[in-house]
Amino acid sequence: MSTKTKTQVAIIGAGPAGLMLGHLLHNAGIDTVIVEKKNRQYIEERIRAGVLEQGTVNAMVDSGVGDRLLTEGLENENIDIRFSGTSHRLNFRELAGGRTVWVYAQHEVVKDLVAARLGYDAPTFFEATGVGIHGLQSDSPSISFSGEAGDHVIDCDFVAGCDGFHGISRGMIPEDILRIYDREYPFAWMGVLAEVPPASNEIIYAYHERGFALQSMRGHDLSRLYVQCPVTDTVDDWPDERFWSEYRARIAARDSALQREGPILQKGVTGMRSFVCEPMQYGRLLLAGDSAHIVPPTGAKGLNMAIGDVQIMTRALAAYYRANDGELIEKYSDTCLNRVWQVQRFASMLCYNLHRFPEHNQFEHKMQVAELNNITHSRQMMRSFAENFTGLPVELFYDLA
Ligand code: APR
Ligand code: PHB
Repeated sequence: MSTKTKTQVAIIGAGPAGLMLGHLLHNAGIDTVIVEKKNRQYIEERIRAGVLEQGTVNAMVDSGVGDRLLTEGLENENIDIRFSGTSHRLNFRELAGGRTVWVYAQHEVVKDLVAARLGYDAPTFFEATGVGIHGLQSDSPSISFSGEAGDHVIDCDFVAGCDGFHGISRGMIPEDILRIYDREYPFAWMGVLAEVPPASNEIIYAYHERGFALQSMRGHDLSRLYVQCPVTDTVDDWPDERFWSEYRARIAARDSALQREGPILQKGVTGMRSFVCEPMQYGRLLLAGDSAHIVPPTGAKGLNMAIGDVQIMTRALAAYYRANDGELIEKYSDTCLNRVWQVQRFASMLCYNLHRFPEHNQFEHKMQVAELNNITHSRQMMRSFAENFTGLPVELFYDLA
């Protein structure tokens, strides 16, 4: 059975980018269809990061999907940057004009957005196979796919490629137009979810001669902890006791509470890569999120970049449909990329200054400590750090392109 329907924006991918785009466009009175290759349970249980910038929190609250975030999320107004055995606290509220970050797991964000979407009955196709994209250089592109009820063709005005790094959208941009910028880092993170309260109620980034360590949380009694490890390591290389002893050695600071051990519920390796594709649009295709860029997890920017992109895309599409003004759509890629490169700069600067690189000698180690001292003692650097960590507002980039 083949069904042909029409919508305004066809969205490929039901990750944070696709779902938030669908929601913001719904609030703007613009129709969308979302096509996702996995099932609902898979996307709602996929464990990822969990730090939301102020702009992401505002987008969720202002668009009406922020209730659970405000009741179950944890607001963090401080970060502790540890090195040379000492804590250095930066207060975001003071340094970034009242802005903070919230810890709220990405899969909870996905759950809230799926519930909202199905709540207003917007067309959403899970377990779609063989998704194809057509006619991007025409005024009426379409997507096709096979689903539970047979084959589908959806005519639309625009296709939003929100299908992540391994999706099909980016591949629609011809090779002679597409430019890729990337860097692989010579280490990874071994991360655990442990059923024990975090030693303190703030995010801790620790630079140590033995490597990086990070304290985060998923609740008052759930710690999310990471240590730097070689890229070749697997969870088998990190039995629980080794994780705890290494984590404690690296995170320790004078007068800091000792992290208590607890049952490790989940353990996994996170790769470290920076990736940007340019342009982020081709004809009637607009890319958002991981389909266009990847950041290393230092700075917890992946989810927030995706939300930033779809806020910029929503503004452009609303201008197109309300005022028949295509100018913001033409500038979509440049507007996003101006912000993307600033976020890449921050995430890789943190990556460089908080990790031990195999090829580094003692001079580089001293340079990293000097840079961390600069970040935590120069008022200007502290403000810049806090502004970047709490998130550069998308509005800053509206008139740059
Ligand atoms: N057809 C349909 N859906 C697809 C296809 C396809 N060919 N390929 C991928 N998808 C779906 C995936 O199953 C996934 O649910 O697209 C979705 C992409 O979601 P994410 O990978 O979460 O990407 P994005 O929405 O951009 O969110 C970025 O997710 O990976 C984290 O760290 C990253 O936090 C960042 C955030
Ligand atoms: C997390 O809470 O999982 C987290 C926090 C900070 C990061 C990365 C991940 O930089």
